[in-house]
Amino acid sequence: MSTQVHILVVDDDEVTCNLLDEVLSKEGYAVDRALNGREAIGKGERTLYDVVLTDIKMIGVDGMEVLRAYRQKSPETIIIMMTAFGSIDTAIQAIKEGAYDYVSKPFKLEEIKLTIHRALEQNRLLQENLLYRQELITKYKLENIVGRSPLMLQVYKTIARVAESRSTVLLVGESGTGKELVARAIHFNSLRAAKPFVAVDCGSLAETLLESELFGHVRGAFTGAITSKKGLFEEADGGTCFLDEVGDISLTMQAKLLRVLQEHEIKRVGGTETIKMDVRIVAATNKNLEEMVAEKKFREDLFYRLNVVSLHLPPLRDRGEDIPLLADHFLRKYAAENKKPVSRISQEALDHLLLYRWPGNVRELENVIERAVTLSHSSIILPEDLPRRLRVEPVEAPPAFSLRISHCLNWKSYTFKRY
Ligand SMILES: Nc1ncnc2c1ncn2[C@@H]1O[C@H](COP(=O)(O)OP(=O)(O)OP(=O)(O)O)[C@@H](O)[C@H]1O
Ligand SMILES: [Mg+2]
Repeated sequence: MSTQVHILVVDDDEVTCNLLDEVLSKEGYAVDRALNGREAIGKGERTLYDVVLTDIKMIGVDGMEVLRAYRQKSPETIIIMMTAFGSIDTAIQAIKEGAYDYVSKPFKLEEIKLTIHRALEQNRLLQENLLYRQELITKYKLENIVGRSPLMLQVYKTIARVAESRSTVLLVGESGTGKELVARAIHFNSLRAAKPFVAVDCGSLAETLLESELFGHVRGAFTGAITSKKGLFEEADGGTCFLDEVGDISLTMQAKLLRVLQEHEIKRVGGTETIKMDVRIVAATNKNLEEMVAEKKFREDLFYRLNVVSLHLPPLRDRGEDIPLLADHFLRKYAAENKKPVSRISQEALDHLLLYRWPGNVRELENVIERAVTLSHSSIILPEDLPRRLRVEPVEAPPAFSLRISHCLNWKSYTFKRY
């Protein structure tokens, strides 16, 4: 053990205290003793204990009060209660108030050792899990999604609202609006963050291939299936499965997918065994599924199963005020990646960015900035660093034209911060 585990033993019976001190010290723990509740609380103010093992029934300040004081001042300390035979109700109350567990008196020393050991182990796993989650959350936290327009605020609110639940989410939006980014944000802000996020591009795979990818197959299911293989749904167990381009799947596959959503179970291709799975589905499409339902190209029942919560990702042309923020974000990203000292976008170049319609949305903007950073010979991005299509005057004023122009005027003094 690199750092010693600190345990405080609290009991108004000195004999019990001494016994526990002796036994736990032998186990390699650093043990302190307190002969009453008041002393126990006082010691907690000076020392950070990993575990407090306290008797419940004590004269004056009792074990419950010790528990409450520690929960408040030192919530990470594990509290284990010792209760006299027959006072189970108090023990249960203690658990409800945050005690880790209780041992009944007269206790077996082995039981105490085991309870402490288990509690510490669980705490360690929890810490590890938190660290791991923290890493991923930093990577995909909402702050990674750039945009301050009212439309994007609505998106953040929905992500926050659905992240904690298990509801299926349908992300709808044009190509390049950030559907995959948002799917990841939902996963990494959910309780499933430490479990896998598996993305499947349903549009790019032939039907039979998609089926065996998703459901897996048993040995001999088809020519070439020399071993059995887990499908992506099984891989994603406990986590999230992102079904991208869900509007592209065949009617046969739609029926199979519906079963997964209804029964939460799958069968591998060629197999007979049903496998239970716990997977949250986030689906995405740039198609109009309602229209497809009307045309009988998409099953209505599946549509409703997927559309429990739907989230529309607005096209970039509807949120012009996000363009400078996104451009700045990508400028820093690609300047750092390419180690180029490009620090801002000239006003004239920015005006071009603001007037363009962005059919490819954020992805197109990202590509344009990446290219500009690569081409740039100075610290500033100039109009000539932008592709030709952005530099021609629009033939027809786009609907948001006046809005954009007013933004341009407001942003005459806009400069990007140095990174
Ligand atoms: N709001 C945003 N903030 C920062 N980056 C974004 C934002 N939206 C999209 N991006 C970036 O734009 C690119 C495209 O996003 P993404 O792949 O999530 O789009 P999509 O909707 O899945 O597109 P497609 O339908 O073409 O698959 C990614 O590199 C993503 O990181
Ligand atoms: Mg995508």
